[in-house]
Amino acid sequence: MHKILFVCLGNICRSPAAEGVFSHLVESEGLSDQFEIDSCGIIGFHAGEKADIRMRDHASKRGVNLKSISRQFEQEDFENFDLIIAMDGRNFKDLRELDQPGKYTEKIKMFCEYCTIREETEVPDPYYGGAEGFEQVLDIVEDASRGLLKSLLNV
Ligand code: 4NP
Repeated sequence: MHKILFVCLGNICRSPAAEGVFSHLVESEGLSDQFEIDSCGIIGFHAGEKADIRMRDHASKRGVNLKSISRQFEQEDFENFDLIIAMDGRNFKDLRELDQPGKYTEKIKMFCEYCTIREETEVPDPYYGGAEGFEQVLDIVEDASRGLLKSLLNV
């Protein structure tokens, strides 16, 4: 079983998109029974909320239904997941700081490490921008999701 947690700041835009797109890919490959996939936010400001309507609309145009309900990262997540994947450098730094003894350093990754086509080094926050920001998030997330699955299957 691969246990994957996607993390952004608010858990209403980028990490819900990552959770939805990666889950969709895993399902389409018939591998759902080998994966546990979740997402959360560094902050709990939007806890209990569905993903941002703009993110859901853009994802649904690509055939992906975002089902996540926002929640804040918690310490047990370090133990409960094998990979904890940050959307940007700030999320990565926050996670490293929450892991004070450095016990989980090996689990904490940047999502863009898995990109094979896109050249961005982070998934930019689309929250205050326009439609093209949400499309960019999905383009990066689709590329990184394929790379992540490939890396886990060693193919
Ligand atoms: P996300 O976007 O981290 O991709 O979910 C954000 C959404 C809301 C806020 C920040 C980022 N916020 O501060 O409310």
